Amino acid sequence: MDDQPISRRVSAIAAAKPFELLFGFFNEFDYAERRQRPGVLDFTFGDPHEMPSHAYVDALAASLTPENELWFAYKQNEPLAREAAAASLRRVIDLPFEADDIHLTTGGFAAIALAMKAVADPGDEVIYSLPPWFLYEALVLEAGLMPVKVRIDPATFDLDIDAIANAITPRTRVVIVCTPNNPTGRIYPAQTLERLATVLDEASTRIGRRVYLLSDEPYQRIVYDGGSPRSPLQFYPYSFLAYSYGKTLLAPGQRMSYLALPPTMPDRPAMRDAIQTLQIATGWVYPNAVLQHALPRLEELCFDIALFQRKRDRMVDALREIGYRVKRPEGSFYLFPESPIPDDGAFANILAELGVLVMPGRMFETPGFFRISLTATLETIEASLPRFAAAFAHATATAGAS
Ligand SMILES: Cc1ncc(COP(=O)(O)O)c(C=O)c1O
Repeated sequence: MDDQPISRRVSAIAAAKPFELLFGFFNEFDYAERRQRPGVLDFTFGDPHEMPSHAYVDALAASLTPENELWFAYKQNEPLAREAAAASLRRVIDLPFEADDIHLTTGGFAAIALAMKAVADPGDEVIYSLPPWFLYEALVLEAGLMPVKVRIDPATFDLDIDAIANAITPRTRVVIVCTPNNPTGRIYPAQTLERLATVLDEASTRIGRRVYLLSDEPYQRIVYDGGSPRSPLQFYPYSFLAYSYGKTLLAPGQRMSYLALPPTMPDRPAMRDAIQTLQIATGWVYPNAVLQHALPRLEELCFDIALFQRKRDRMVDALREIGYRVKRPEGSFYLFPESPIPDDGAFANILAELGVLVMPGRMFETPGFFRISLTATLETIEASLPRFAAAFAHATATAGAS
C-alpha cells in the first residue's frame, strides 16, 4: 500500500530550493518572531509599514454598500472593473487594450499561474532569469512545468538575451520577464525588449511552436526619475501581462490583480475562453465582489512615489558612503546591494544580530547580494544606517582577518 498522504507534486514544490529557503526563513530563522522584537528594523518583505490612506479605506467602504441585489452575487469579471483597468492600462502602455481582455484575479500569483496553464502542457519548459521573484518556481512546478533558469548580466542587471536564446529547446513554451524588476529594480531598455522579441519569434519558427512571453509587471507604476518604461507587450504580440494592485496600493493582503492580453495577440477569443475556463477550474480565482466594485476608485490611487524616491536616494547614497556596492534602482521598491563578504547568508545574520532584517541573495538563487525593501519608513532607514555601517565594518574586518 502506498500510504504517502501528500501528492508527489506538492512534495516536489515544497522540496524546491527557493520554497525551502522561504520556509527556512520563517521556521529556522523565525522571521515572524524576530520582526516583533523591540528595536528591530525590518527590510524584508514588500509589506506596508504605515497605515493605509483614507482614500483607500474609503474606496473599500463605499463598495460595501450594496446598490442592487446582485452586489454580492458570484463574481467573474465585472464589466465596470474591467473597463476601469483597461482604460488605465491604455494610458500606461500605449496600446488599445480592450475590457474583455482583462481577467481579474486573486493577486499576481493567480495571474501568472493562469497564463502558464493556458498555453503550456505538463513537461513544457518555462524560462526565467535569476535573480527571480522567489515564487516563480513553485508556480511553474504546480502547473506541472519545468523551470529553466538563466542569469542576468551581473554588471548591468539587464537581461542576458543570448543566455535566453541558448536556453530555448523544443519544449520551451513560456519566457517570464519582470520589469521593473524585483529584486534588482532594473527597468529593461527598449533595445533589450526588442532583441528579446526577435529571439522569441525566430525560436518559435525554428521549433515549430509558439513561445509565449509572460510579462510580470506588478511594479509597472513604481518608477523613479520621471521614467516611462516600455512594456514587453509593445514588442511581442504573443505576450501576457500580469499586473497586481497589491504593490501600487501597498495592500498586498487585498488580493486584486489581473491578467491582460494585448490587442495585438492573435487568436484572442480562444485565449479569453481558455483563461475563463481556467479561472473557474482552478478554484474560482476571481477577486471578491467588494474589491471588484472598488476597482474604478482604486485605479485612481497610488502611494507617494516621490517619497519612495527620496527613500531610495537616502539609502543608496548612505550605503555607498559606507562602502557598499549598490545600483540605484530605476523602479520597484527594492535595492539589491552586493554583500561585503561572499557569504550573503552569514552577512544577513550579522545584520540580524544588529537588529536589521534583510533577505540574503541566496533566497533569490543569487549569492553575494542581499535585498532591502524600501517599504520601510524614512525613520527606519535613518535608524538603520549606523547598523549597516557596523555590519560592514564587522564583516570586512572578519574577512580580512581570516
Ligand atoms: C515580481 C512579482 N511578481 C508577482 C508577485 C505577486 O504579487 P501578488 O502579491 O499580488 O500576488 C510579486 C509579489 O511580491 C512580485 O514581486
